[in-house]
Amino acid sequence: MFRELWKRRVKIIEANLQEELRRTKSLDENLMRAMEYSLMAGGKRLRPCLLMAAADASGGDGEKYLQVASALEMIHTYSLIHDDLPAMDNDDYRRGKLTNHKVFGEPMAILAGDALLTLAFEVALRQEDVPHEILFAVLQEISIAAGAAGMVGGQVIDLRSEGVQIDLATLKQMHMGKTGALFKAALRSGALLAQAPADKLDALTNYAENFGLAFQITDDILDVEGDAKILGKATGSDAKKNKSTYVSLTSLAEAKKLAQATVDDSINALKIFGSEADFLRELVQFLIGRKK
Ligand code: IPE
Ligand code: IPE
Ligand code: MG
Ligand code: MG
Ligand code: MG
Repeated sequence: MFRELWKRRVKIIEANLQEELRRTKSLDENLMRAMEYSLMAGGKRLRPCLLMAAADASGGDGEKYLQVASALEMIHTYSLIHDDLPAMDNDDYRRGKLTNHKVFGEPMAILAGDALLTLAFEVALRQEDVPHEILFAVLQEISIAAGAAGMVGGQVIDLRSEGVQIDLATLKQMHMGKTGALFKAALRSGALLAQAPADKLDALTNYAENFGLAFQITDDILDVEGDAKILGKATGSDAKKNKSTYVSLTSLAEAKKLAQATVDDSINALKIFGSEADFLRELVQFLIGRKK
């Protein structure tokens, strides 16, 4: 049930992403190709699926919010293009393909990222059937999460932490920023769009914070013991760049323990929900055992 729903929604999301690209009147064909190359390269589409699942859990219909959901995937894809740049992680593979700058060159990769970030807000503003004040609150949530107080801020801590010893509190702050913030915005946006009551919004926020942490700890673990072919990106990238990760600061075994404990906390946060939150429960448990 959980796998089928995930698969079905990935299809719906990807069809919409393609449609949004098609309707974009870019001044340059090559820019369009660079945007499409990364956006349509696959990926788990987790952030849009989480938005939909949070809306479902709040008593709404997640698929109604396809525009805002698609916007999250565009922001995420832009962050990956920039994350892979030589000035950042300098990676050659992403989603099983050469990284954007390897194919289109660095200047175009930077601009394709910029264009996806701005397209996200254009697309989200086309969301229908949502009162304007709610859409306003959601866009505020997403824009704060994507910026200096969230994802970009976390990426800066990540760069600052290369080759130096940081403490666990700083590491957690980094993870909650670079990865957690967008997940949290996805879940909170789904709840806000479906007009969830305060206790449900709080519970989903609590789930989200633990989800984000568990997800990035697992990403760090996969960088050490994953299979690059399955992952679609290189392994050993963190060690090569002397990154601070849960594995480097503690150990592989400790990181795995912490990932499971964090998953348990995220599932516990959903106590007030019934079966309408099963997708969220199953997803977080599935993701720490994932191979990609
Ligand atoms: C990878 O994110 C980057 C991180 C934030 C850890 P995902 O693992 O969600 O990447 P895709 O979208 O499935 O490729
Ligand atoms: C990336 O974290 C986080 C963002 C893109 C915001 P990582 O650098 O660990 O992601 P991967 O391992 O390259 O996917
Ligand atoms: Mg990085
Ligand atoms: Mg990286
Ligand atoms: Mg990583």
